[in-house]
Amino acid sequence: MNQSERARELFATTQILPSILSADFARLGEQVATVMDAGARVIHVDVMDGRFVPPITIGPLIVEALAEQVHDAGGVLDVHLMIENPERQIEPFAAAGADAISFHIEAAPHAHRVAGQIREAGLLAGVTFNPGTPVDAISGVAPQLDFALCMSVNPGWGGQKFIPESVERLRRVREMLPERAALEVDGGVDQNTASHVAGAGANLLVAGSAIFGQADPAAAYQAIAAAGQAARGVETR
Ligand code: DX5
Ligand code: ZN
Repeated sequence: MNQSERARELFATTQILPSILSADFARLGEQVATVMDAGARVIHVDVMDGRFVPPITIGPLIVEALAEQVHDAGGVLDVHLMIENPERQIEPFAAAGADAISFHIEAAPHAHRVAGQIREAGLLAGVTFNPGTPVDAISGVAPQLDFALCMSVNPGWGGQKFIPESVERLRRVREMLPERAALEVDGGVDQNTASHVAGAGANLLVAGSAIFGQADPAAAYQAIAAAGQAARGVETR
């Protein structure tokens, strides 16, 4: 199975996506190995440019540093671009080993074109949107997407509180997306909120501080995975 088939297969199932934003960067490879040994197969990478959101975080160098380890362990890298002009960064992240890329609709007046660029690079294409953005903002591009990413906090930092209205927003996005498309949620997901978002139709659940901020990240991953799986029953999407 090649990487793009693997990504497609994983995105069709329920997955908890550890966000390395909350990991210890002095021992990043070890932290990724811990969550992958516990069962994680999709690693979430938060890219911030100091403009679309205030912090500056991760670039293609970090994706490149992790790609072999993640791919060899049967996993994929999900890159969340919180940047202006996302069209300029598709090629560098694809070359670094990204398997899926999402960009913010608020930063992309030509979203069809950017989604097309991502798919032409052989990756899964997603669009994401902030809690204050009407869900309908993505309706035009929805048929083109492999996944949508509904933010359940305002992007920029890990460890923020889940915004409860996100549950209803997830339901509406799920209805708008083609059946084959995945639905991701990001921000404030923990063992408690996981069941609510999974029940609303999300199948890709990002968790940062609720995993890497805990004393035992492997146990934390497994507890959230159990909560998410229980809420989704036996269905794969
Ligand atoms: C927030 C990032 C998230 C972040 C989530 O801007 O997009 O992926 O890592 O962190 P938690 O799970 O701690 O809310
Ligand atoms: Zn993210």
